[in-house]
This record gives sequence, C-alpha cells and structure tokens, in this order.
Amino acid sequence: MTSFKAFWVEKSEDTINHSIIERSIDDLPEGEVLIKVRYSSLNYKDALSAKGMPGVTRNYPHTPGIDAAGTVVESSNGDFKEGDEVVVIGFDLGMNTPGGYGEYIRVPGSWITPLPSGMGLRDSMIIGTAGLTAALCFDKLLRMGAKPDDGPVVVTGATGGVGSVAVALLASQGFEVVASTGKADKHDYLKSLGASSVVDRDQLGAENPRPVAAEDYAHGVDTVGGETLSNVIKGLKHSGSVAICGLVSSPAFNITVLPFILRHVNVLGVDSVELPIAEKSRVWGRLASDWQVPGLEDMVVEIGLGGLSAEIDRIFAGGVTGRTLVVL
Ligand SMILES: NC(=O)c1ccc[n+]([C@@H]2O[C@H](COP(=O)([O-])OP(=O)(O)OC[C@H]3O[C@@H](n4cnc5c(N)ncnc54)[C@H](OP(=O)(O)O)[C@@H]3O)[C@@H](O)[C@H]2O)c1
Repeated sequence: MTSFKAFWVEKSEDTINHSIIERSIDDLPEGEVLIKVRYSSLNYKDALSAKGMPGVTRNYPHTPGIDAAGTVVESSNGDFKEGDEVVVIGFDLGMNTPGGYGEYIRVPGSWITPLPSGMGLRDSMIIGTAGLTAALCFDKLLRMGAKPDDGPVVVTGATGGVGSVAVALLASQGFEVVASTGKADKHDYLKSLGASSVVDRDQLGAENPRPVAAEDYAHGVDTVGGETLSNVIKGLKHSGSVAICGLVSSPAFNITVLPFILRHVNVLGVDSVELPIAEKSRVWGRLASDWQVPGLEDMVVEIGLGGLSAEIDRIFAGGVTGRTLVVL
C-alpha cells in the first residue's frame, strides 16, 4: 500500500484548517489512470476551494489542485501507458476529485492531455489553467478576426496568472498590449512581459453612466468583470471583441445594448474547465509550438505543499503576481 503526501483542507462550521497528511493510493477514487504528480499550480479557484468558499468544492475534507502534470503509473485506458508524461487541467480535478496538491491523482482518461512535444512538465504547470485560459481567450479573439493592425488590446487583472500570460502571449504575437493593474509597483514587470502601456485599475473600474465611451481598445481580455468589463465593452472600437473569463471584481456587469448595435462589438465567453479535451489538447499543442509564451521563468514563484496556505492568503489580498508553481 503506497502512501503519499497531500495538502488537506478540513472545514467545520466556521473554521478552515490546512495541513499536510499521509494518504494511501487506495484512498483515491476509482478511475482509469493513476498519475504521479510532479508539478501543480495555484489558481484563483484553488484558493476558493482551499478557503471553503461556495461554488467549487462541496465535500470536505479535500485535497485541492485543479492542475497536475506528471507521469502515468498505471492505466486501464488504452490511450495511456506507464511512463507517459501527461497534463490534467480542469474537469472535476481539485473540485470534488482529489487534486494536484497530492503526490498521486487517479482520473478518467478523458481528462488527460499527453504532454505536447516541445514542452516540459515544469513549463506546462507554469502555464497551468491560468495560462491555458489566456491562450483560449487569444484563440477566441483570433477566431473573431483580431489582428495586430486593429490596435491596442487591453488585458485586465494584468499582473495575475491569466493576465500575465495573456500580456506575454499577445505581445509575442505582435499585438500592442495595454495592461490594466492595481499594482503601482508592477509597471516594469508588465512592460518586461511586453505591455506597451499601463492603465490604472481604479481608472478602468470607475463607474461611468455613459452607454459608450471613447474607442480606446481594439480588443480585450477580461479577468475582472464588474465595472471594469462594462468599461472595456464601452471602450471597444467598431467590430472589437473582448474575451471574458473571470470575475475577481464581480460576476455582474452593467451595460446597455448600445455598444453592440452601434459598434458591432462582441463579448466572447471562455471556459477552460469543461471545454472538450480535443480543444484543450489543440491549444496545448499551439502553446508548445507557435504560441510559446516568452518569459515564463520571469513570472513564476516556486513553492512546495508547505507554502500553499500563505500563497492562498496572498491571492485574496490581491497580492499575487504571475504564476505560482507547486513542486510536489
Ligand atoms: N473561465 C475560466 O475557465 C477561468 C480559468 C482561469 C481563471 N479564471 C478566472 O479568472 C480570474 C483571474 O484568475 P487568475 O488565476 O489570473 O487570478 P489571480 O492570479 O489571483 O489574478 C487576479 C488579478 O486580478 C486583479 N484583481 C484582484 N482583485 C481585484 C479586484 N477586486 N478588482 C479588480 N482587479 C482585481 C489583480 O491584478 P492587478 O493587481 O494587476 O490588477 C490580480 O492579480 C478569476 O476570476 C478566475 O476565477 C477563469
């Protein structure tokens, strides 16, 4: 009976307790593929799960971790064999299925992407859910015909995980990027990732009663929601698009039909969780080839399971910059 270390979240009526415990492989749910996890990462949703917030994890105690990259140990699925290097992102991993903050996971084959050639396990988890989501946003903008010549693309929550990868990816593909941030001391960081200019989070998030505003942006990637998203939509040029994936400020946004019927703009939804595996694998393939994200090592902080609690607190304090890699 193999035992392994896992980050463990216990929830009682009004307390949350974090610890690292020994678990047995027999404790894992039934599933086709047993994976030894080498790396995971910390995403906003992991923090919600680890804090017992509603909407992510129903049953505690629990091991979060919506991302995992590692090596197949056992498989009853013909697509995977012992020794294969693989990535698991989303579906139920880390929500109600024990996640990547344990040294082993067991999952259905339909959740797994073979590690694309040209990418290492470590880079796959620096990218993780946040980076894949940034790439899905970029993919949707391209599908709507976005081109570098269109003009600036605004990225909100720019120093966060999704935001950092979105800035670096868009800039590396020739787009002019305007980064919106609340961190006055991170302008140089954003410029090092490729942002051409920076706009203050409070300015872009200020309430504006006008139905449309100056056409400042050709396109956008929004991780924030709320007034920020409303202002991005109001500020899109004719035929512009914004890909939306997050809600760190608010899930609601207040907008009239006017930007849509006067400026022909598009709001594009992005979901990295239930997106079919073939689509995820296609975008992973691009991230390993013509969409390689420059500067990944400049945006990463590396921790072990013991560092998770403190980093989770930093997420809710809005203090995280870039990506947090969890080394198992
Ligand atoms: N749809 C999907 O499949 C999907 C996948 C991944 C993530 N998401 C969502 O995308 C969002 C970002 O995720 P993430 O992993 O990038 O999170 P993150 O690393 O914690 O980054 C969020 C960033 O948002 C900004 N921010 C924080 N609090 C804010 C507030 N109250 N108002 C405005 N901006 C604020 C901060 O950037 P600045 O300081 O630079 O402003 C922060 O670094 C989350 O809502 C997450 O749930 C969705």
